[in-house]
Formats: sequence, C-alpha cells, structure tokens
Amino acid sequence: MKKILTVILCALLIATFATACAPKEDGVSKIKEEGKLVMLTNAEFPPYEYLGANNEVVGIDVNICQAIANEIGVELEAVHMDFDGLISALKSGKGDLIAAGMTVDEERMQNVDFSVTYADATQIIIVNKENPKVTGENDLAGKTIGVQTGTTGDLYCTDSIEGADVRRFKSGLEAAMDLKNGRLDAVVLDELPAQSIVENNTDLALLDMESTDEQYAIAVNKGDEALLEVVNNVIEKLIADGKIAEFTATHVEASKGI
Ligand code: ARG
Repeated sequence: MKKILTVILCALLIATFATACAPKEDGVSKIKEEGKLVMLTNAEFPPYEYLGANNEVVGIDVNICQAIANEIGVELEAVHMDFDGLISALKSGKGDLIAAGMTVDEERMQNVDFSVTYADATQIIIVNKENPKVTGENDLAGKTIGVQTGTTGDLYCTDSIEGADVRRFKSGLEAAMDLKNGRLDAVVLDELPAQSIVENNTDLALLDMESTDEQYAIAVNKGDEALLEVVNNVIEKLIADGKIAEFTATHVEASKGI
C-alpha cells in the first residue's frame, strides 16, 4: 500500500513539475493548433464593426483581423459581446485578441498589451437637430448625456464634465434613440460611429469636441509577444499599402442605411 502511494505521489510530483517547466504556449502556436483566430468585438460600432446582411460581423476591424488570420494561415471567427466585457473575455481565454475600435488607454494597459495604432479618433457630440439642448462642448456641464458603457466617451463624461448625469447604454445607437425621444440632452460617442448614426437619422446633428484625441489599437493578452509581433507587422503593412484607408472608405459607405 505504502509503495503504491509513493509511486502515485512521485508521478504526481513529476507531472506537476513537467507542466510548470514546459514553456508557456504562445498565442500564435495555440491559434495554429486550433486552426482559427478568434477576434472579440462589439459589433455595434459602424464602420469598425457592425452586422452585415446575414448577421455576420463585418467592418474595418474584421478586415484587419482577416489579414492577420491570413498571415498565420487560419480561419477568422468574430465573437460579438458587450463592449465592457471584452477585456475580461480576453483574459479568460474566450478569444485571441480584441479588435473593437478600442482606444489605447493607461488603465486598459494594466490588463492587456496594445498593438501599434491604426486610426486616430475623437469623441463627438450628437444632439437633436431641431431644438438642441446643448450647443457645444462647454455646454455639456450639468446635462443628461448618453454614452456606451465602458467606453472612453463614458469615462470622459463621467470624469471630466461637471455635474453631468451620465446614462449608460449597450450601444451608441440605443443612446441615440433615447436622445430622439427627448430623454437625453446629448450623446457622446466616437466620431465615425456617430457620423454613421446621424447619416441614418436625419433629425440628429453633430457638434465637434476639441478636447479629445484617441488612437485605436488591437489588444492581446499581456505578454503574448508572438501574437503581438504578427499583429504589428500586419497593421504596419496594411497602413503602408493604404489598405486601412481603403477598408475605411468601403465600410463608411456600406454602413449607410443599416
Ligand atoms: N474608442 C472607444 C473606446 O475604446 C469606443 C469603442 C467602442 N467600440 C465598440 N466596438 N463598441 O472606449
């Protein structure tokens, strides 16, 4: 009995030791093994990501991730979820990277590693065209403002606008619907998605916001250097070849009338 126990114990020890010492599998080998690159996103952010005619996720970020998948030699799968759940989903292994028009931000950098940036963005204000309750950035103080939960627009309004009553929504579009219904004074959102909403809702209008300046990047798990290198190389090449500009033009056009 004692002998058997000793053997089992030794086997267990060896097994533990072996797993602990095995080199941690890098993101690229795992993706190759599984034959697919899983991109986590929130497809309520046209032209970066939105649902196409057959409910498939399409957009600039999908085109970028398709190029990354091609480079690795695997299929691309896009997983749609709430924006504020993306980072924890990445950390718990539900996908390989986040491509969601995500702004590089100090606090997020505690939890993920960002690629090189592929777009510049600003926040912008949406108001009702007739009878706007806000006339410009300096007028936002004390107003009822709609934002998408967990976005930089949310953080900005919550932290930097005096006395704002910030209302959080699952998407910019849902916030815009409450603006139309008169329940909000304004919506603060990234510029291109806001333009897309106004394009499709002619009773809304845009007001510039000078004070925000953001860059979008792809996020990978902390320390996933192999994947980050592939992502960076692909993005740099896409930028140099004018492809990001091309994807942007295509999806700005295609997301009209959705
Ligand atoms: N750029 C903003 C941020 O990083 C908003 C991104 C929202 N993206 C989305 N796919 N819904 O917070």
